[in-house]
Amino acid sequence: MLCLLTAVPIVALIAFVVFLIALARSDGDLQLMFKTKFGKPPDSLAGKVVWITGASSGIGEHIAYCLAKAGCRLVLSARRTEELERVKQKCLQISAGKLSEDDILVLPLDVVAYDTHKPAVQKVLETFNKIDILVNNAGRGQRALWLDVDLSVDRELFEINVLGPVSLTQEVLPHMIQRKQGHVVVVSSVAGKLGAATFRSYVGSKHAIHGYFESLRTEMYEHNIDVTLVCPGPVVSNMARAFVTGKPGEVNTHLFCQLFHIRLTFCRIRSTFW
Ligand SMILES: NC(=O)c1ccc[n+]([C@@H]2O[C@H](COP(=O)([O-])OP(=O)(O)OC[C@H]3O[C@@H](n4cnc5c(N)ncnc54)[C@H](OP(=O)(O)O)[C@@H]3O)[C@@H](O)[C@H]2O)c1
Repeated sequence: MLCLLTAVPIVALIAFVVFLIALARSDGDLQLMFKTKFGKPPDSLAGKVVWITGASSGIGEHIAYCLAKAGCRLVLSARRTEELERVKQKCLQISAGKLSEDDILVLPLDVVAYDTHKPAVQKVLETFNKIDILVNNAGRGQRALWLDVDLSVDRELFEINVLGPVSLTQEVLPHMIQRKQGHVVVVSSVAGKLGAATFRSYVGSKHAIHGYFESLRTEMYEHNIDVTLVCPGPVVSNMARAFVTGKPGEVNTHLFCQLFHIRLTFCRIRSTFW
């Protein structure tokens, strides 16, 4: 009995130390990292139909490559058709024969052209008969001092980062509810969890998306539909180059953004060689 009483705190202490070491060595959410290592392999998604918005660059492009490798049928959406075609060709290469031309639909879409969302959903269903996973990834960054931001910039970021995903998801959900299965993914950000100086509209829009989609998650439980909010930290992409400022229509040429972009480009080059 005495032996057991001394063993419990020792085991708890060891578990706590292991947790601290894992935390210190991690660069992401511990549960997610655990599932990446020990959960279902990506190949378990083979054959699923996955619709990715913002698939023409950055995170969306990379998701497309990972899913193509796993053998998912893909719908690639963004505004720039030529870039989507480039991503499609690379997906076909990466899939190493698992996918053919007909398994990847390039579907140009502006997430703020809300009236085009219903016909876009119809087009996907005509092509693949189903949508298993919707990845709302398209988004825009913003940087300016709080007091320098025009309300119209808040509105613009809200339209792209919040109402775009909300509108598209609203059109896709009836189909998923009818099938009693589906998965809605939203690419949020660490900025959806924490405030950050000089990112007022971006942080505000990413916080808002949590409100919308966490409410959805509680409603979708009974329909067997999952809702996942992904919160990446800084990622090498084109986003820093396209940060809007506090003024409508203006892109940030601030030294910080340029340095941020140069740093990200350096990381990209480094990751290519190391
Ligand atoms: N990079 C980071 O550090 C980071 C960190 C956390 C979260 N995120 C989030 O990750 C997501 C992707 O960003 P990223 O870093 O990959 O940036 P990115 O390389 O600039 O990609 C943004 C994507 O969104 C698309 N897009 C922008 N406006 C659109 C619109 N109105 N309609 C349709 N598509 C639109 C762009 O395509 P077109 O220009 O062709 O339309 C592009 O494919 C965003 O939601 C962002 O907030 C990024």
